[in-house]
Amino acid sequence: MKIEWYHEFVDTKYRPSRTDVKVLFYYEPAPGVSKEDAIGRIASESSSGTWTTLTTLPKLLPKVKAYAYYYDERYVKIAYPLLIFEEGSIAGMMSGFGGNVYGMKAVQNLRLIDAELPLEYIKHFKGPTYGRDAIRRIFKRKSGPITAVVPKPKIGYTAFEHAAKVAYAVWRGGMDCIKDDENLTNQKFNRFERRVELVAKYRDKAEKETGEVKEAFLNVTSPNLKELERRVKLVHDHGFRYFMIDVVVSGFTAVQTATELAHDYDMAIHGHRAMHAMMTRNPKHGMSMLFLAKLMRLAGIDQLHIGTVVGKLAGEEREIIATKEMITQQEVDEIPGLRMPQKWGKIKPMLPVASGGLHPGLLPELFKIYGTTDIVVQVGGGTQGHPMGIEAGARAVVQAIEAYKKGVSLDEYAETHKELKAALDKWGYMKPI
Ligand code: 3PG
Ligand code: 3PG
Ligand code: MG
Repeated sequence: MKIEWYHEFVDTKYRPSRTDVKVLFYYEPAPGVSKEDAIGRIASESSSGTWTTLTTLPKLLPKVKAYAYYYDERYVKIAYPLLIFEEGSIAGMMSGFGGNVYGMKAVQNLRLIDAELPLEYIKHFKGPTYGRDAIRRIFKRKSGPITAVVPKPKIGYTAFEHAAKVAYAVWRGGMDCIKDDENLTNQKFNRFERRVELVAKYRDKAEKETGEVKEAFLNVTSPNLKELERRVKLVHDHGFRYFMIDVVVSGFTAVQTATELAHDYDMAIHGHRAMHAMMTRNPKHGMSMLFLAKLMRLAGIDQLHIGTVVGKLAGEEREIIATKEMITQQEVDEIPGLRMPQKWGKIKPMLPVASGGLHPGLLPELFKIYGTTDIVVQVGGGTQGHPMGIEAGARAVVQAIEAYKKGVSLDEYAETHKELKAALDKWGYMKPI
């Protein structure tokens, strides 16, 4: 008697329909397991199958089966009928092709590289409220970069020090935003509510003194959704146009709750990717950063950390550029083994955030990769480690941006700009690891 039915989920003659979700995986069968046995399990367990043949079946079964329609030694493409996914739910989608399959004994390694999502699926998501439009609509400028600073040390400042000593100096130095660090939420020594009040107070002062728009990315990452909602409202009621959330640790449902609130309050969301590397870093297993970024654009995060190439965090240039294109363009082509084609329909483009180990000397190289128009640049240690202090550190960042835009080398610009000179004297063009 036939016990297994995994091979029924492999069909290289199957032609995916216009509305199928097509997923590209990297896979490695466990020792002694054939390719077909491994990919049959991947397609089956991530859609409608189980480990054995069944004696009672629903009539709908033919319409809810996924098919592995292409495979070679290392890659498999699986088509999933749209019917199996709840409309507008990232959690629903990921419990399928990001679910049990990852734990199956027959599969040694499995990496979700990308999924091509049909417009019929995408239309159930709102996408970013602002995305790239934040530059024009919030900061009242024609082009970027939007500049931000995270208080360093990451943890330790009181709410008052955070606002009066760091944020105020950063804004006075000419930068746009103060950003909470990923692990600063609502600790005893820096309560969220107090931080929001004081950052708003010093924002008003800095705006008055500089005549520029000043913003903050206050981290609303919370222990539960009710509290998340309360914190977003608090930030909104203090006149901020942005809030920040740690998208991975908070989870897809929290992110989609946050994006609903952002739409209601007409706010933009800064997404931090803390913990992503637990899933994305191993090139043989987990999920790609590119696909995480795609999910966040779909959900409605307006700007997301995607890597710097030149800074302290791992991330290959080829993948970062493919990711940047994925989140900023309305249509992208396939790159074999790296990206599936994607059309975005009415979903707005996101802004990429470059952060982690940046300082003025690295900005020209960063801008060669990203351009300067549609990007958020965050410089934490590279502002606050400045020998002349925080305000001068911010000025040095602004000067490096000016120099690049004018096509002048940093060394030459530093001859007439003392803050940039001091930054280059300390860090030069070093690449931190
Ligand atoms: C689970 O989520 O634990 C499974 O769906 C197990 O299903 P099975 O008993 O058919 O393997
Ligand atoms: C971030 O969360 O991206 C960082 O806090 C980066 O800080 P750094 O500029 O000091 O590396
Ligand atoms: Mg950080």
